[in-house]
Amino acid sequence: MNDVKNYIEENKVRFLDELFKLIRIPSISSNPENGNEMVRAAEYLKNALLEAGADRAKVIETDGWPVIFGEKMVDPHFQTVLVYGHYDVQPVEPLELWESPPFEPVIRDGKIYARGADDDKGQLFMHVKAFEYLVKNNLLKCNVKFMIEGEEEVGSPNLKKFCLENREMLKADVILISDTTMIAPDIPSITVGLRGLSYLEVEVTGPNRDLHSGLYGGAVGNPAIILAKMIASLTDEEHRITIKGFYDDVLEVSDKERAEMSAAPFDLEAYKQSLGIKEIMGEKGFCTTERTGIRPSLDVCGIWSGFTGKGAKTILPSKAFAKISMRLVPNQDSKKIDRLFEEHFKSIAPAGVEVEVRSLHGGQGYVTPIDFPAYRAASRAIEASFGKKPIPVRSGGSIPIVADFEEVLGIKSILMGFGLNSDAIHSPNENYPLFNFFKGIETIPLFYQYFSEET
Ligand code: BES
Ligand code: MN
Ligand code: MN
Repeated sequence: MNDVKNYIEENKVRFLDELFKLIRIPSISSNPENGNEMVRAAEYLKNALLEAGADRAKVIETDGWPVIFGEKMVDPHFQTVLVYGHYDVQPVEPLELWESPPFEPVIRDGKIYARGADDDKGQLFMHVKAFEYLVKNNLLKCNVKFMIEGEEEVGSPNLKKFCLENREMLKADVILISDTTMIAPDIPSITVGLRGLSYLEVEVTGPNRDLHSGLYGGAVGNPAIILAKMIASLTDEEHRITIKGFYDDVLEVSDKERAEMSAAPFDLEAYKQSLGIKEIMGEKGFCTTERTGIRPSLDVCGIWSGFTGKGAKTILPSKAFAKISMRLVPNQDSKKIDRLFEEHFKSIAPAGVEVEVRSLHGGQGYVTPIDFPAYRAASRAIEASFGKKPIPVRSGGSIPIVADFEEVLGIKSILMGFGLNSDAIHSPNENYPLFNFFKGIETIPLFYQYFSEET
């Protein structure tokens, strides 16, 4: 499709200008005071869909941040593709580590630097522009719907209900999502697995106030030390998780499948170097891509207690806290894992402290089949635009709503992401290569074409 390349060439300045306007809106969903920004971003996208050629588009209120829905129904006999994406972004702290301000997008070394440049504004906007190209040139061979939410980064707390209430409106044959990565621009891949998630906060309380560490130290249990020991005991020497029953529902992947997966190229030295670490660490018996792709994990995302200001303050803290995330594999149930964690964590607490466990959010994992029309269409589209057949890969990341889509709407998702691991999503200096952005716009129209042929 040479035409799409011409279209991109002629319009690339405008495309970037429009994307940058979206990126400049600081739509951080975790900040409850961000209502104005969230609505501005939603309105902006609604208008972008209308200008691109949607028959209708609207901003729909929910109990949380609004959802944008838009559609173009070309022919009732055509297949319908529902594009899902999110306009919310992660917080930007620590600000001092950004080389340029997070919401002032700039291009350096062929990459767009900004919060949301990849996750997911950049990837989502490729769909809006690919759609524009197809509509303006009368090339759409599928009906297209868009559902764009503003709460993905906080666990999509209202989207399942939204789907339940709007089943008819959301009717489609497949859900198309660009919110994942590929191995490298010259090693394209399609994500066929996402991990589930259990995210909890724990609070350990000892004495009724912070104590003088000289008067009481040695005689009263220190919640910070107790919490550290409790957390340390959650994994053993082989880096297996010690929570009772944790692995009960894990589907073991067959040796044959593992051998197939190991065909995906992976450079351990480059991996270590890119992260600035001398050695990796993980569950015995599995390689790095297996540790993130087919095995569950447990991490501390944050931990705090006592005095953390400048200088010294001699206290024994009253409380200690941690935020703990467990990535789950398909068939593990996040609610069950929440419960197992809480039971286990309380059972290992020594006498003299109280333990509270609060579940923050979670969701199920997902596996995409590779023998269905949407996968074949995505594979052909990527092969045509990248010149190489994409490799199916299981990702370690999570998009919990994808499992709900299948449960509530009965629709499978195809994860045709164009990001790279080096895009530093959720980190300072998030970026998205221009190459990937424009290649995505080039690939998406092919997906529609091949999907219409495959079905
Ligand atoms: N787009 C990511 C998920 C992702 C990134 C999957 C790269 C695969 C490859 C998404 O926005 C995300 O960050 N999800 C959260 C989910 C959570 C906040 C409920 C995650 O994985 O931490
Ligand atoms: Mn995302
Ligand atoms: Mn994200």
